[in-house]
Parts: sequence; C-alpha cells; structure tokens
Amino acid sequence: MTITPAVPLLRPHAEQAFADELGALAALDDRPRPPAWSMSPWAVVTYLLGGVLPDGTVITPKYVGPRRLMEVAVATLATDRALLLLGVPGTAKTWVSEHLAAAVCGESTLLVQGTSGTAEEAIRYGWNYARLLAEGPTPEALVPSPVLTAMRDAKIARVEELTRIPSDVQDALITILSEKSLPVPELGTEVQAAKGFNVIATANDRDRGVNELSSALRRRFNTVVLPLPASEQEEVDIVTRRVEQLGSALELPEVPAAAEEIRRVVTVFRELRSGRTLDGRTSLKTPSGTLSTAEAISVVTNGLALAAHFGDGVLRSGDIAAGIIGSVIKDPVADKAIWFEYLEAVVRERDGWNDFYGACREISG
Ligand SMILES: Nc1ncnc2c1ncn2[C@@H]1O[C@H](COP(=O)(O)OP(=O)(O)OP(=O)(O)O)[C@@H](O)[C@H]1O
Ligand SMILES: [Mg+2]
Repeated sequence: MTITPAVPLLRPHAEQAFADELGALAALDDRPRPPAWSMSPWAVVTYLLGGVLPDGTVITPKYVGPRRLMEVAVATLATDRALLLLGVPGTAKTWVSEHLAAAVCGESTLLVQGTSGTAEEAIRYGWNYARLLAEGPTPEALVPSPVLTAMRDAKIARVEELTRIPSDVQDALITILSEKSLPVPELGTEVQAAKGFNVIATANDRDRGVNELSSALRRRFNTVVLPLPASEQEEVDIVTRRVEQLGSALELPEVPAAAEEIRRVVTVFRELRSGRTLDGRTSLKTPSGTLSTAEAISVVTNGLALAAHFGDGVLRSGDIAAGIIGSVIKDPVADKAIWFEYLEAVVRERDGWNDFYGACREISG
C-alpha cells in the first residue's frame, strides 16, 4: 500500500513520473508479451532507450549506453534466471533497475535495500508479533517481504547492493530462485511464485570481496555489467539530460546554457579517473574518489542552485569549482597533492580555462 500525500512529491517513482509514456507504450504494443508483463520486451527496451512511437508519442531515453546490454537484461527477465546488474559506482545500476521493474510489471517499489544488517526476514517474511502472540502463527500474522509479495503478485522484486548482505542471508534467495517457491514451515505451507515473478539485483564492483556471491547464487543470475560512458560526448549528454530533469523536478530557477561548464566537469572527471589527459599526452595520478557520472550530475546541479540563488543566473566556473574539489579530494592529504598537481600542470595551461583555474585557486588557497 502506498500512502501518497496530496502535495507535490519530492521524487515520484518511475511508474508515476513516466505513467504517460508507459501507458502509450503498452497501448500500442502488439508484440508477444511474457506472462504477466505490462508490455513486450521490445517495448521495455524502447522505454529505456527512448524512441518515437507510430502515433508520434515521444519516449524519452532513460539509459544512455549500448542497446545490446539492455536487450540482454530485458531478455533475461523473461527467462527463469534472475538479473544481476554489476558495475562501478554511479553507472546507473539502481536507475536501470527501477525503470526495468516499472516497465515490466508497473511497480518498482518491491525493494530490499541490502546492508550488512539485512536479515532473512527482509527476504523471506516476518511476523506481526502482537498477532503472533494472540493468535499463534496464522496467514494474517505473517508479514511478507517485498520478495514474497512479488512472488504472489507476479511482479519484479529488486534487491539493492546484494553483495553487502551477509552470505548466509543471501542464501535465502537460492531456494526462491531455483525452486520458485518459499516454504513457510510455521504454517505448514509454501508460497509458490506466479508466472511473471523475477528478481533484479544490483551490486557494486568496488564492494567485491565484502560478501562475495556464493557460486550457488551466482549461477541463478545472468550478470550484465554496466560500463562507464564510452566517450566524453556520451557522458556530457547523460549529465546534461539528468541535470535538466533534476532541475525541473526541484523547481530550480532556470539557468540557461550550462554546456561549457558541464563539459568542463566531465573533462576533469574523465581525466582524473583515467589517469591521463584527454589528448593522451600527459599521465596523471588518480585520486581515491570514484568521480562517477552520478557525482558529475550532482556537482552541476549544485552549481545551478548556487548560480540561481547567489549568482547572476548564469552558471560560472566559480559555481562548479567547489563541487569538483569536494568530489576529487576525499583524502585530505594524498588527494590534495594529486589535485594541486593537476591544477598546476593541466588546468593552468589550458586555453579558455583561466576563469576555472582562478576559481579553483581561490577556493583551494
Ligand atoms: N549511462 C547512463 N545513462 C543514464 N543515466 C546515467 C547513466 N550513468 C549514470 N547515470 C545517472 O547517474 C545517476 C546515478 O545512478 P545510480 O544511482 O543508478 O548508480 P549506481 O550504479 O546504482 O551507483 P551505486 O553503485 O553508487 O549504487 C542517475 O541519476 C542516472 O540517471
Ligand atoms: Mg545503486
């Protein structure tokens, strides 16, 4: 049950925010649909990557990247294997998982957030203790997990950060994924999954080794690795699009044409992330932070808020400098040295980067 307040939502779910697109896709879609799916796999991929429908409806792109990856991900959900989205931080794993669930079954909220404290009840079921004490174990006293609800209602369950969950708790998924059923010994029964049930899990590359997936569990998943944006232009496009969407969702005052500063943020992030300048001429040391696309998006969004509320309404170097420095310098000693080296050797020498160099010097001292 969702309690929706009668005021504007800070962040609507994908199925709320894109209800029109999802409705249009489902209505026009005459391709075969897997059991219980809201639309065909083809339509789900169109929803993710964008396109124009025969009636002229424009579907906005949600994911920017290789089409084949999304086709593999969607096709997996139509099989008896679950989907694992793997990748470094900020590669849109969570974002893709939410949109996939919204498109396939109309519901992205059956979510288990994996942490080191995630207990088996979060994956199986728990009990309403007042009722359990009063009535003993009855179906009414059982509190289903999001996974159990998805099994019963033929939906997609999402498990975020799967590898942060302790291994013995992860293993609760094995029976669910292989037998497609969940025993409830207290009631002497089991819940069998309806056709249409599946699981999308996400895991972070950098967390590898925290709690490795057991091979038994890994075999139940098809893994799709989400890459970092292939080119600078692709990353600029992603940041531009997301910043626009976030800006209008947050109702920030309009700040026009931020293209130049967006490119600057992306250039700095890509150079420091890869350890060389974009022209390939100079090698650089890489700082400890991840400098993900997601961070680039928030640096620019913060810059826009600064420009709108404290500046002259134009996004300037000074509005993004503090955000960039905050993302780069995570370790106050090592990263700071790396940053200054980059600032002096690369930023200072670059044509057209004077303002940005000055703004950075002013903040870094
Ligand atoms: N290729 C991409 N296409 C579209 N959006 C992207 C892409 N890469 C990153 N983003 C944007 O980056 C933001 C963060 O993505 P998300 O939170 O899904 O990352 P994540 O991979 O789950 O990271 P983490 O490992 O930290 O959980 C989202 O707003 C998303 O739109
Ligand atoms: Mg995530």
